[in-house]
Amino acid sequence: MGLFSTLLDFKQPYTAGEAWVYDHLIAPGVSSFHGPFLDGQLDALPEGARLLEVGCGGGQLLIELAERRPDLSLVGLDLSEGQVARARRRTARFDGRVRCVVGSALDLPFEDARFDGLISVACLKHWPDPQRGLSECARVLRPGGRMLVIEADRSCRPEDAQAFVESWKVPSPLTPASRVFFRMVVADRAPALDELEAWSEGLPLEEVCVRRVPHAPAIVLEGRRR
Ligand SMILES: C[S@@+](CC[C@H](N)C(=O)[O-])C[C@H]1O[C@@H](n2cnc3c(N)ncnc32)[C@H](O)[C@@H]1O
Repeated sequence: MGLFSTLLDFKQPYTAGEAWVYDHLIAPGVSSFHGPFLDGQLDALPEGARLLEVGCGGGQLLIELAERRPDLSLVGLDLSEGQVARARRRTARFDGRVRCVVGSALDLPFEDARFDGLISVACLKHWPDPQRGLSECARVLRPGGRMLVIEADRSCRPEDAQAFVESWKVPSPLTPASRVFFRMVVADRAPALDELEAWSEGLPLEEVCVRRVPHAPAIVLEGRRR
């Protein structure tokens, strides 16, 4: 396995090199994807709720969630052992309130209706069978539980892609290369809006909304488990 083999096959777990690059250079900018949606998701969660993050990466969002809602019980799941180890180290200070597990979105290791809410950011494009992964996400939600899935947008506007890559922690002379990387390696492997809409049909969800994330090269699927 090469240092950057996931670039060739997005279905593979991140290698250590890719995890480091993503974690340190790109992840800090990804909050622009979920920023406008987290409030609604958190407001809907009752006191002491159980929340699952699918594709937690190095745990940045888990930390934000745990800090914002000290009552929540959080589980982060990721295919990459290295990322889960990193997320575990970073969330250790929450004294067991945040648990991180290795697993796949396609076969979530949880019983039906286990969680009150579910979030997944920038993970769907890696799933070999996105519809199956979305069904799994719905399966582990209790009736009334809310799902929030955010992913890069294949049909994104160039100016939104530009703003996103400018938020990466790379020296500015490399921004043009980052833009090409985002377009050709990330966005081109992500779904377009109509594809995500089609995948959302048939899920056991109500109040489904699929739309673009304002001012970000991303799309979002929100819904409530029937
Ligand atoms: C682009 S990163 C996003 C990480 C984090 N959600 C964020 O927003 O910064 C994608 C993550 O999805 C994970 N991943 C890829 N395929 C997966 C699968 N089938 N099930 C769960 N996680 C997966 C990768 O290991 C990686 O950590």
